[in-house]
Amino acid sequence: MEAVTVEGVTKTFRIYKERASTLKERLIRKDRNRFDSFLALDNVSLTIKKGSTVGLMGRNGSGKSTLLKLLTGILYPDQGTIRMKGKVSSLLELGAGFHPDFTGRENIYMNASILGLSKREINRKLNDIILFSELGKYIENPVKNYSSGMYMRLAFSIAIMVEPDILLIDEVLAVGDAAFQQKCMDQLIKLKRNGTTIVFVSHDLGAMEKLCDRVVWISKGKIVEDGSPRKTIDKYLSFLAEEENKRLISEQDTDNSSKEHERDAVEEESVISRDPSTDVDENRWGNKNVEIYEVELLDKQFKSKLSYLSNEPLNIILKYRVNVAVQKPIFGIGIFTIDHINCYGTNTHIDQYYIEELKENETGNIEIQIPSLHLGTGTYLLSVAVHDENGHQFDYHDKKYSFKVSSLSNETGIIKLNPKWLQRSGEF
Ligand SMILES: Nc1ncnc2c1ncn2[C@@H]1O[C@H](COP(=O)(O)OP(=O)(O)OP(=O)(O)O)[C@@H](O)[C@H]1O
Ligand SMILES: [Mg+2]
Repeated sequence: MEAVTVEGVTKTFRIYKERASTLKERLIRKDRNRFDSFLALDNVSLTIKKGSTVGLMGRNGSGKSTLLKLLTGILYPDQGTIRMKGKVSSLLELGAGFHPDFTGRENIYMNASILGLSKREINRKLNDIILFSELGKYIENPVKNYSSGMYMRLAFSIAIMVEPDILLIDEVLAVGDAAFQQKCMDQLIKLKRNGTTIVFVSHDLGAMEKLCDRVVWISKGKIVEDGSPRKTIDKYLSFLAEEENKRLISEQDTDNSSKEHERDAVEEESVISRDPSTDVDENRWGNKNVEIYEVELLDKQFKSKLSYLSNEPLNIILKYRVNVAVQKPIFGIGIFTIDHINCYGTNTHIDQYYIEELKENETGNIEIQIPSLHLGTGTYLLSVAVHDENGHQFDYHDKKYSFKVSSLSNETGIIKLNPKWLQRSGEF
């Protein structure tokens, strides 16, 4: 049986243009539109089975909260229909539905009666609500003096104690402290077990995966994916990594072009007497007998990429130019966290890949193939180097390159060990 049915729902908002302030402006603007229409939800259809828990995820402004507000009845659709079966309780924006001058206790009465409880029912549940919220004596204070976490505690406690058939939650849990968040999560799992239908909006994909039977991804007001949490979250993360990649590459391009402009300007000024020793780069040193003139990070299709998923392959290309012939050069790489903890370092010597010599004026490239990035979520810095057998640097680029890694699972730390767990009875 369906608890929620959304059919062909479209919602547009009017964005009002700045008001004309002078009479002249008003006369000039008279015949123009005073507002733009913004399509927040575009022909959305969705059914949610009774007793299931469905997560809504998507980037900021994609329409998740708008959809929840339509389900609650705070907003009405322009087109389409919405049917909800049973008592609906919702946790939307923080403090929505509370009267700021009333105390926590008074707001419980007000809020719970709006949700359809009689005074007697509220009296019966009052203590449980206050106990669950852990607000203690603060329950007698006006809620306008509450912190965000305290608002959330009160709102969550009321929303669950009214024993709704359908519970709608919009992100608010994130403002609770870790202990209360865990308590809320446990409570949601309990409600789910008792057959409550839950619609859960969150940017915490770990919580989403833990709680939801199904996840719906909304982008620009449309459903783009609807399926098992793992599959949908995976696709969403790949999409985010791709978006982030585009951003990082365009950032790098503007960075490089502004550096080129700077360099052009400097070269124009000092074209007559250019002293290479004044060409200082704090993150680069060496005698430049061999020069690494470009470093590229590529994905498995050899496309330039700066944002990776854990366990994805990474190829690093070091393009070099030889200014002075050298014997037995060694190329190396190091990967660091942004607080400069060395995660991994290796070189051609360690990996027993020997290069006998590099001839003067030779150019070439070194490709380092990493089959799988066993790194946790975070930003990492890359150092690259070429030096001689004794460690004398030809060219060292110290943490000059960065890339991002995102991981679907919730393990902590910087490396992924991919363990297998086994339980056996008796002695080992
Ligand atoms: N009352 C409103 N008037 C005008 N535009 C609105 C209104 N409410 C929402 N919007 C717009 O509709 C779009 C969807 O907003 P919505 O709040 O649903 O996004 P969301 O997916 O919940 O984002 P977030 O992750 O940031 O909470 C946004 O572009 C927003 O600016
Ligand atoms: Mg929102």
